[in-house]
Amino acid sequence: MTPIPGAVFHRVLDRELPLARRSHGAWIETSNGKRYLDASGGAVVVNVGHGREEIARAVYEQMKALSYVHPTMFASSAVEDLAGALAKHTPGGLDRFYFMSSGSEAVETAIKLARQIQIARGNPDRQVLIARWKSYHGLTMGALAAAGRTSFRLPFYPMLRDAVHIPPPYCLRCSYGLAFPACRLRCALALDETLQNIGPAAVSAFIAETVGGASIAVCPPPEGYWPLVREICDRHGVLLIMDEVMCGMGRTGKWFAAEHYETLPDILVLGKGLSGGTLALSAVATTTDLMETVRANGGNFVHGGTFSHNGIACAAGLAAVKILEREQLVDRAARLGRWIGQRLNESLADSPHVGDIRGLGMMWGVEFVSDRGTLAPFPRSAKVTEKLWQKLFEQGVLLYKSIGMAGADGDGLIISPPFVITEEEINRVADSLRTVLRCVLGA
Ligand SMILES: Cc1ncc(COP(=O)(O)O)c(C=O)c1O
Repeated sequence: MTPIPGAVFHRVLDRELPLARRSHGAWIETSNGKRYLDASGGAVVVNVGHGREEIARAVYEQMKALSYVHPTMFASSAVEDLAGALAKHTPGGLDRFYFMSSGSEAVETAIKLARQIQIARGNPDRQVLIARWKSYHGLTMGALAAAGRTSFRLPFYPMLRDAVHIPPPYCLRCSYGLAFPACRLRCALALDETLQNIGPAAVSAFIAETVGGASIAVCPPPEGYWPLVREICDRHGVLLIMDEVMCGMGRTGKWFAAEHYETLPDILVLGKGLSGGTLALSAVATTTDLMETVRANGGNFVHGGTFSHNGIACAAGLAAVKILEREQLVDRAARLGRWIGQRLNESLADSPHVGDIRGLGMMWGVEFVSDRGTLAPFPRSAKVTEKLWQKLFEQGVLLYKSIGMAGADGDGLIISPPFVITEEEINRVADSLRTVLRCVLGA
C-alpha cells in the first residue's frame, strides 16, 4: 500500500487509507492497481458515474470564460442556466434556486430561509424547528441540531440550539409499537401533537428527509405519511422543508423523491448528485411566491457565502443534469434499482441476520440483526457494520455504513451505486454481501 502523505489531517485517524488514483464508470482504482466497485457512489453522491469528460470540459470552459465573481456583485449565465434546467424537473412551483457548496450549508440555508419567510409574514415568534430522530442533515451546528443521530450530536450537544425531534416513520421498529396501516400513521400525527405541545405559533418549520438515508439505512416512509405531514404543516402555518441532499437528483428513480409521495415542500434541499458527484454544489429550491415574500419585507435574504452561486460548480451541475436527461439515467435508476432489490432479496433474505431489506430506485439499505425473530440488534460494541464493510472493502466492493438506528445499537449498509452500474456488477455486489455475511456472522 502506498503510504499516506504525512501532512494531511484525515477524517479517518485510526488506519491508513489506500491512495485512489483514477475512477471511471462505477469503478475506482488505487495506486497499486487494485480496483473497487463503487456500489455506494461514495457517500451516495456519484449518480452519473465517475470520470465524465463532459463535466470536466464544462468546468474547464466555464473557468476559461469567467472565473470567480462575487454573488452580490454579478449574476452569471452558468448559475442562471443550471437554475433554469432544474426548474424543468422540480415539482410544481419550486422554481427559485439558491446555490451553496455542501449539503450541510444548504440545510442551514433552508432553516434560515424558513425563519426569514416567517418574519416576512409577520410571525417573528416562529423560531422553533421540528425535525426527526434517526435523521441526518449534516454536521455544521445548525444542521447537526436538526439531525437526529445521537453519536454525532453528543460531543456537541451542550453547544447546539437544538431542534425538537419526533419519531421517524420507521415501521420495522415503530416507536409506538404499532403496525402499519392499523397505526393510522401515528408517527405523522406526532408532528401535530408536538406542535400543540410547543404551541404552533412558536414553530417555524418541520425538516425531514423525504426518504430516510444515512442514519436509518434507507427508509422510505409508508403510504400517506407525507400528505398527512403536509396537511398538518398547512393547518398550523408551519413551513415544510424536505431534505433531498441524498435522495434527490434521480437517486430514487424519480428526479425528486417528493414525486413518489405527491407532496410539495415549501423548501427543497439538494446536494450530493447535483454536480454528478464532482464539485461541491448544493441548493435550496423554493417558490417564486415565497422568495417574493422575503423580498417584499425589505430586500435581501440575510445569508450567503464566498462560494455561494458559484458559476464553476454550477457548470458542473448543468453538465450533470444534461447527462441525466440525455442518457435517461433517472429511468435507468428506477429500472436497475428494482434489480438491486430483487438480487438483494434473493441473496440475503434467508440469512438469520438480515432484519430488513428496503429501498427505492438506486437507494437500498440492509439492516442486520442478531436475531431475526425478535429483531434484537447486535450490541454496537460488536461493530458488525464496520466488520462487514471492511471485508467487502478488502474484496473490492464499496458500500456505505449506517449505524445507530436501533436505540444506541443498530447495524446497516447502504447500496447506492452510480446509475450506470450494470446488472452483472449488481450481481457481484449481492453475491459479495452474502459471502461476507457468512464469513463475519457465520450465516
Ligand atoms: C439528507 C442529508 N442532508 C444533508 C447532508 C449533509 O451534506 P454534506 O455532507 O454535503 O454537508 C447529508 C449528507 O449525507 C444528507 O444525507
